[in-house]
Amino acid sequence: MKIAVASDHAGFEYKERLKELLKELGHEVVDFGCFSPDSSDYPDFAYPAAKAVGEGECERGIFICGTGIGVSIVANKVKGVRAANCCSVEEAKLSRQHNNANVLTFGARLISFELAKEIVKVFLETEFEGGRHERRVEKIHKLTGL
Ligand code: RB5
Repeated sequence: MKIAVASDHAGFEYKERLKELLKELGHEVVDFGCFSPDSSDYPDFAYPAAKAVGEGECERGIFICGTGIGVSIVANKVKGVRAANCCSVEEAKLSRQHNNANVLTFGARLISFELAKEIVKVFLETEFEGGRHERRVEKIHKLTGL
């Protein structure tokens, strides 16, 4: 899968370490920054990365900041994006099964790297259930125009 990754300084280290995991799992990684641990502003990286997912250049996105909240707010303002901020494996699984989430966000200051790895794996391997959820997901885009 082609995966867009993005972070600010707070998520930089997790992003760098997760890139290795994603490559080991056979994915192609497109890194939208940041590119150093220096203080930075998450919209600068989350917005272009979210556009890459919304426009179909990348199939999924994984965005990290201190809490995951800032990058998720940015991502959910981009057409075609369904971002889920997940603190647990169960949330990551349900975000795929019920919401067909195409962007995963989380906070490097809130969860351990070990948990982040499990969340990422489940997010990437879980399929959308479709069925009754299909109609609801379609309505997100129809009603919001996004
Ligand atoms: C940076 O200090 C922090 O505010 C940012 O990483 C993020 O948590 C915002 O939502």
